[in-house]
Formats: sequence, structure tokens, C-alpha cells
Amino acid sequence: MRKKARWIKKFKDESRRLKDEDMFEIVEEVFDSITLGFIYRLETKKVIRELKGVVSAGKEARIYWAKGWDGRDLAIKIYLTATSDFKKSIRKYIEGDPRFESIPEGNFRRLIYEWARKEFKNLKRMFDNGVRVPQPITFIGNVLVMSFIGEDGYRAPLLVEAINDLSLDELQNIYYEVVEQVKRIVCNARLIHADLSEYNIMIWDSKPWIIDVSQAVDHSHPRALEFLERDLENIQNFFSQYIEVEPIENLRGEIEHCLLIVK
Ligand SMILES: Nc1ncnc2c1ncn2[C@@H]1O[C@H](COP(=O)(O)OP(=O)(O)OP(=O)(O)O)[C@@H](O)[C@H]1O
Ligand SMILES: [Mg+2]
Repeated sequence: MRKKARWIKKFKDESRRLKDEDMFEIVEEVFDSITLGFIYRLETKKVIRELKGVVSAGKEARIYWAKGWDGRDLAIKIYLTATSDFKKSIRKYIEGDPRFESIPEGNFRRLIYEWARKEFKNLKRMFDNGVRVPQPITFIGNVLVMSFIGEDGYRAPLLVEAINDLSLDELQNIYYEVVEQVKRIVCNARLIHADLSEYNIMIWDSKPWIIDVSQAVDHSHPRALEFLERDLENIQNFFSQYIEVEPIENLRGEIEHCLLIVK
């Protein structure tokens, strides 16, 4: 509990700073009129009661803290519809995944909608299969609503940020938990995260939460095994700097066979 309080304090300032200086951008850059329409619809549908401020401002998406009608804290992920590198980087994950039809060249807005839908579906599939991810609530266009990981609008730290506040015991447990989450993603949800690293894991209540699942792919994706290998290597490389990790062959043995099981 004390540790949690310390994290909150530590990350409070950073979040506060982002919030204030990005408020103008909210109106000018992110919220084009179509996106504003989606947010308005979420308000009239009584999903969001109040949009509070920016939690994270990335190149491809922004995350906002919002309050739900039931008083719950929500995280609203809004994909930017005006960035062009994004276009190239996401195609390889959408094409080759049978759940998502190919999108005509040039229809960038639709591509982004499809990307938000993909993140929602991946989140739901993971959540329904017991993976510790934010709870997916709804999506519309380029706007995705999920539960908020953190407290009072202060997001939980990423694994990479929390590392110095964790004891070796805690870290060891977190490592086993992360491996367990990967197993559930691959063997139960039958997906590959495909961008797993210390930057896409949040630490809350001393437990790892897996986030940023938009690029996750189905087992049938032609590069599924390659993406899984990369995820495992990222995890091993990060944790092995601090603690004893299982030999990677063991993890491969435990997890990769799930790719071969046809359901
Ligand atoms: N459900 C959530 N609750 C609280 N904070 C969140 C949540 N989801 C994401 N965040 C915060 O927002 C950041 C960006 O989210 P995410 O990783 O999903 O997007 P991204 O597209 O990778 O953006 P970026 O380019 O900023 O990494 C995360 O690093 C995390 O700090
Ligand atoms: Mg991320």
C-alpha cells in the first residue's frame, strides 16, 4: 500500500504536466469534428460523463482519463487520424489476419477505425480468457474505451518506470506473472501480443497489466511464430538484467506448442 502511494506521488507530477500543456492540442489536433462526434455519442449513450485530461500523448494515439456515469475511472484511447507513418506500420498486422478484411489503399480513416476495432476485439478476447488487461468497454470509430489502470487519474507506472521501486522478490513474482499472462494470451486467447516489452506492461498492486494490444495477431497470421519469439526475447532480455530467468527453451517449449494446436 505504501509502495502504491509512492508510485502515485512519483507519477503525479508527470501526468499533471502533460495534462495542462496538452489541453489546447486536444481541441486543435486530436479532436477533429468527426472524432468529436464520436465522443459526443459516447456521452449521450451515457458511457462517458466527463473527459478529464491527457494521460499519455504518443505519436499514434492519445490516452485520456475520463469519468464514467457510474463514477468509474475510464481510459479513452483515441487514435490520431492525421499521422502517415502509422499507415505503413499497421498494415502488416492487419493484412494476413483473417478477422480483418483488406482495406483499400488510400482509405486511411477506415484503416484507423479497423485498427481501433482490432484493439477492442483483441482486448476482449484476452479479457474473456483471463489475461490481466484493462477491461474493454466499447469502441466507436477511432475511439476506444477501457477501464483505467491507476487511481484518481494518475496512471500506474510502466514496468520500465517502476523497476527501481520494486524489490527483487516482487520482480521475480512479476516475471512469473508475465510469463503466465503470455501463456494465457497464446494458449487460451489464441493470440500473439506482438509488441510485448517493459513499455507495454503496467505495474499496479504489484501485478503486471498487459496493455497496447492493437497489433496482436491470431495464430493463423503467417508471422505468428516470429512475433511470439520476439515477445519472449524482449521479456527475457529485460528481466535477465535483474533476476534469474527460466531458460528461453523452457518457455518456448511451454508456450510455442499452443501455436500448433488447431482449434
Ligand atoms: N487502461 C489504461 N489506463 C491507464 N493508462 C493507460 C491505459 N492504457 C494505456 N495507458 C497509458 O498510455 C500509454 C500509451 O498507451 P498505449 O501503449 O496503449 O498506446 P501507444 O499507441 O503505444 O502509444 P505510445 O506511442 O504513447 O506508446 C501507456 O504507456 C500508459 O502509460
Ligand atoms: Mg505502447
